[in-house]
Amino acid sequence: MKTYLVPGAAGFIGANFTKYMLKKYEDIKIVILDKLTYAGNLGTIKDEIKDDRVEFVKGDIKNRELVDNIFYRNNIDYVVNFAAESHVDRSIENPQIFLETNILGTQNLLDVAKAHWMLGKDEGGYPIYKDGVKYLQVSTDEVYGSLSKDYEEAIDLLLEDEEVKQVVKDRVNLKTYGDNFFTEETPIDPRSPYSSSKASADMIVMAYAETYKMPVNITRCSNNYGPYHFPEKLIPLIIKNILSGKKLPVYGDGKNVRDWLYVEDHAQAIDMVVNNGRLGEVYNVGGFNEEQNINIVKLTIDTIAKIMKEEPEYSKVLKTDLENINYDLIIFVKDRLGHDMRYAIDPTKIATELGWYPETNFEDGIEKTIRWYLDNQEWVEEVASGDYQKYYKQMYEN
Ligand code: NAD
Ligand code: TYD
Repeated sequence: MKTYLVPGAAGFIGANFTKYMLKKYEDIKIVILDKLTYAGNLGTIKDEIKDDRVEFVKGDIKNRELVDNIFYRNNIDYVVNFAAESHVDRSIENPQIFLETNILGTQNLLDVAKAHWMLGKDEGGYPIYKDGVKYLQVSTDEVYGSLSKDYEEAIDLLLEDEEVKQVVKDRVNLKTYGDNFFTEETPIDPRSPYSSSKASADMIVMAYAETYKMPVNITRCSNNYGPYHFPEKLIPLIIKNILSGKKLPVYGDGKNVRDWLYVEDHAQAIDMVVNNGRLGEVYNVGGFNEEQNINIVKLTIDTIAKIMKEEPEYSKVLKTDLENINYDLIIFVKDRLGHDMRYAIDPTKIATELGWYPETNFEDGIEKTIRWYLDNQEWVEEVASGDYQKYYKQMYEN
């Protein structure tokens, strides 16, 4: 049996990863460590907490004594670290907590894991570790900075690598807005306080790999979407506002491009890297799904309007008239400071080495996501009470 320590599993991606792993592996233990910040919610993992294979610990990844204690009580094989401050707009308002959690928290987890996994030292003074252990840092494509957008409208993305073509054969009509992509060799060039803190954390992880020969991997993923996404991020915020007939704030001209990945595909990628990734390696994880923000917003409006027309039983979720669900809801607002123009991942390495590719195409993924929100309004109400109201007012109503 493998035991995973999963910090940040009460948040969006960590929770989806935990659900995925518990479903996939019978013989597994997951210890969740989460501070339950505004972004972490026990309601998100309520079924998992009842599972005998799960232990929940409320606390901070920076707390050495607490993390130490978790390692004393459990035979941890893998640490998969999702815990972070994750929202760019919040990092612009208050950078300090991003540095504290994302950098110092990561270093603390690494240091405690190193102490518990170390069996002795070799003649060169390097630590020797228990067999099979690994620390995986869940990072982001935003550490690479911003790519140029070379085309106003998307063009066909032609895959050149024969092996990649084979792996992704059932994804068709791929498109792109540019000629360049983030590979694992792209230099780190973060531009926001959030991405800088994640890049710093990545460098600390690699420093532990070099200096202490610590067994690590880093995954750098593009924008995720799917169930349990906190409604401060674009897609869940748009869904929430459409359902109540509120304006949809699009930053700048709406032409910035993100590469959207369905969260379950990300969970699968992390599982593959934990179990088969080569030690010390970085793996980029991307959606093959570049889209401009404005098109994401329009597609979300269209999909909700279609579902409401075809399945009138859902209208009970609406706090506005169906006829109000149209593009008039869109408003263009002041642009984000230092707004990155385009992110796009080249997932050749993970596709060819591990056989992973993003299985979910966007039209299916967004419909699944919207249906999840329609069926789980209680969750939305719960997470959007308290701090969220204050945040929304400050961000969008001033
Ligand atoms: P999230 O904000 O939804 O969840 C973060 C979780 O970490 C929450 O449960 C929160 O309570 C917990 N947390 C925060 N500070 C903590 C601390 N000091 N100690 C313990 N727990 C703490 O974030 P997410 O979207 O699920 O992202 C998870 C990870 O994936 C992050 O590291 C993020 O940088 C990375 N990532 C996210 C995306 C995306 O699109 N959301 C894309 C690529 C990478
Ligand atoms: P977001 O979901 O915050 O993710 P990230 O900044 O990590 O990419 O934002 C996705 C894109 O949507 C980004 O270009 C900013 C834009 N955006 C808006 O236009 N309006 C909004 O209200 C939000 C939250 C984001």
